[in-house]
Amino acid sequence: MSTTSTKTLENLSVESRRFPPPEDFAAQAVATAELYEEAAADRLAFWAKQARERLSWETDFTETLDWSDPPFAKWFVGGRLNAAYNCVDRHVEAGNGDRVAIHWEGEPGDTRTLTYADLQREVSKAANAFAALGVGQGDRVAVYLPMIPEAAITMLACARLGAAHSVVFGGFSADALRSRIEDAEATLVVTADGGYRRGAPSALKPAVDAALEAGGASVKDVVVVRRTEQDVEWTEGRDHWWHDVVDSASEEHTAEAFDSENPLYILYTSGTTGKPKGILHTTGGYLTQVAYTHATVFDLRPETDVYWCAADVGWVTGHSYVVYGPLANGATQVMYEGTPDTPHKGRWWEICAKYGVTILYAAPTAIRTFMKWGEEIPGEHDLSSIRLLGSVGEPINPEAWVWYRRVIGGDTAPIVDTWWQTETGGMMISPLPGVTTLKPGSAQVPLPGISAAVVDDEGNPVGPGGGGYLVLTEPWPSMLRTIWGDDQRFKDTYWSRFPGRYFAGDGAKLDEDGDVWLLGRVDDVMNVSGHRLSTTEIESALVSHPAVAEAAVVGATDDMTGQAPVAFVILRGNADAVLGDTDPQEALRAHVAKEIGAIAKPKRVLVVQELPKTRSGKIMRRLLRDVAENRELGDVTTLTDAGVMGLIQDGLKGAK
Ligand code: WT7
Repeated sequence: MSTTSTKTLENLSVESRRFPPPEDFAAQAVATAELYEEAAADRLAFWAKQARERLSWETDFTETLDWSDPPFAKWFVGGRLNAAYNCVDRHVEAGNGDRVAIHWEGEPGDTRTLTYADLQREVSKAANAFAALGVGQGDRVAVYLPMIPEAAITMLACARLGAAHSVVFGGFSADALRSRIEDAEATLVVTADGGYRRGAPSALKPAVDAALEAGGASVKDVVVVRRTEQDVEWTEGRDHWWHDVVDSASEEHTAEAFDSENPLYILYTSGTTGKPKGILHTTGGYLTQVAYTHATVFDLRPETDVYWCAADVGWVTGHSYVVYGPLANGATQVMYEGTPDTPHKGRWWEICAKYGVTILYAAPTAIRTFMKWGEEIPGEHDLSSIRLLGSVGEPINPEAWVWYRRVIGGDTAPIVDTWWQTETGGMMISPLPGVTTLKPGSAQVPLPGISAAVVDDEGNPVGPGGGGYLVLTEPWPSMLRTIWGDDQRFKDTYWSRFPGRYFAGDGAKLDEDGDVWLLGRVDDVMNVSGHRLSTTEIESALVSHPAVAEAAVVGATDDMTGQAPVAFVILRGNADAVLGDTDPQEALRAHVAKEIGAIAKPKRVLVVQELPKTRSGKIMRRLLRDVAENRELGDVTTLTDAGVMGLIQDGLKGAK
């Protein structure tokens, strides 16, 4: 365990507050304690039941799990279904066409309401339009959109056609978009002129143009939603306005059923090496688990709840808990385009009051920001409709948890701290509201149907009170099926550290009751505001600047964002000439923003003469983290040159 983990462990052991389920909540809870027993008695029968009860299958499956070629899983073998039909059409057929699916709120204050019947028309039109452009089963479609209804409509239209979408977060650069388009060999890109961020239009189309100028040869068409009315460059024959091709398309589209294992989407996430991993999710297992978890963990009552997951569709949370989970369950939800402080810092709470939000799902980084802004701000709004709160993306500090429950949850709302990953597709470890007595800061127990353990270096399970690595010990329906185009990397990354078990990359501790406390990433992936970034990716971006010779990036603990990238760079001899009057810190931060996106911008850039390295040439980031967090240095004995750290520290004195 690193020094950070040990420190966290000490803090955790003193957290003794407990929150038993409110009686009235428990009396009516969707989840029951029997679920654990039922799943433990026969895990596969439990999942088969979830699949059959929660989804509509055109053809029933004949086998629940085929694990004959691990780690390559097949769930609900032989079953056929259409994900979009399950998320949209069947609710209309059941007589719920008038139910609101999406209350959309644009950042400037414009709004749109889409019922399930509206969604069915829009998704059908988009599917017809994409099909007319040649998109069909097995194709890949890149999606680069702001948080507007067309994002969900596009994803569902792809699913309807059996094509896999690859959503690229709108904050990513042209280069990041290009490499993702190329890796997936997408043939269509769906984008917008721009979206609203912090009170101003923020362009998207220029990044698509730049990406396709630099590469992305597989792309034949680009469909552009008009949102901000910014001027856009136009490539005749390739570019099409959404309002031309989609609005004129037929509202009738028959959703064909596809194999349970048909690819549903690819979503890129950072790995320990530079190249992002294309996480592949398929249809039947994924939809089963997101529908099941969305209903039980959020205590969902689709007829009365107003659910709001404040994540962008560019991240997995948006895929599973904005699009597929809630819509499969026929929920009514809020979708918000913009930032929490535009036009004022009470925007979220104004939205909650306006729509009567009952369930709110947010990230600890947002909660910490609201804490910083002060409780008077939410206090100005009526939040009495909120009855359940969720947290996701990183460990939530007990103080933030308690604040969230008291200030936002009216001192009564249970909080579900949900641990999962892009790779797991759906929630894995979380309390069940109405059942579990809550502990602030702990994700607590694997959900019914999920098997997890904390193991030591040798892979032996640790007992209560022990710490180590989090592993998943049995396959689960929404597990990633592979890394797109790289089965070997899939095996190496997740299944080789502890053979037969899935290595999540997170450190964890079990308390005396056996509850799980997550301690953050054990590899060189950092978590900034709930978004995963690889140190290597940022280092590569820094090194691509002509003034930089070498770079090492670490994730330093940060009160606001969880972790923040801190960069140590060695400048080239000609750096002065390259940089001129520009401050190296500013130049390099801007460069990283351009190469990867603003989220990856180092909080600090420290210019050093040398970097600490092991004999095998590996940079010892652990020591740099000690420096970045102003801590005493750990073990320096494996360094080639133990004097290096002294030089770095001396050089930094006065630099801050
Ligand atoms: C990593 C996965 C899950 C969707 C958003 C992030 C961290 C996630 C929790 C939690 C402690 C958490 C882990 C995990 N993480 N949720 N409730 N408690 N840590 O997805 O980008 O794939 O990141 O986020 O470190 O491995 P992701």
